[in-house]
Amino acid sequence: MLRDLVEKNRSYRGYDESRKVTRDELLQMVDVARLVPSGANLQPLRYRLVFEEEEVKGMNALTRWAKALKDVQLPHPGKYPTAYICICDDLTVCKNPDASRTDVGIAAQTILLQATEQGLGGCMLGNFDRSDVKALLGLPEHLEVVLLLAIGKPDEEITLCDVQDGQTNYWRDGKDVHYVPKRTLEDVVIP
Ligand SMILES: Cc1cc2nc3c(=O)[nH]c(=O)nc-3n(C[C@H](O)[C@H](O)[C@H](O)COP(=O)(O)O)c2cc1C
Repeated sequence: MLRDLVEKNRSYRGYDESRKVTRDELLQMVDVARLVPSGANLQPLRYRLVFEEEEVKGMNALTRWAKALKDVQLPHPGKYPTAYICICDDLTVCKNPDASRTDVGIAAQTILLQATEQGLGGCMLGNFDRSDVKALLGLPEHLEVVLLLAIGKPDEEITLCDVQDGQTNYWRDGKDVHYVPKRTLEDVVIP
């Protein structure tokens, strides 16, 4: 069921580091993402696969996680993702980066759903320095880094709950279970 897959596909910030993710597994994800809708069917997105240990380490150092949780270091040491997909916008295809923003969201969610179906999981990451990532991955000038997807074997518990009193901030309990409040159907459907 699609709903089950969507519920399972959370933003994971703890992974089993012993489970390496292969280039073939990442290719399988991108192979699905290349089939999704694209504005004017321009398909400006390009994907840099990061799975080699040294590059993954470099990416781990450049990414910032769970800004809302001030007193917790996430991922916890030893619980980092073992791969990344760096989504780039090819500026030679469309000069206006705003035009491809919707494409990025569609592609990112599709990749994470596919990762979930492959028994893996991930997290979208927008909080990082674009120029640092571009330099680390040796990307050419015309590729603008827009979003990172951390990928790995999830190793933490995440629970969805209803938003109460308009509070959408996620939190963790004493057992490190991560809670994500979602607005109810009543909240989101315009009467
Ligand atoms: C565009 C985008 C950028 C995000 N960037 C980050 C990020 O830099 N670091 C992080 O820890 N989580 C990031 N997230 C994950 C959100 O915090 C997460 O989606 C939200 O807390 C809800 O959790 P859920 O995805 O499990 O429903 C991002 C999500 C989106 C959609």
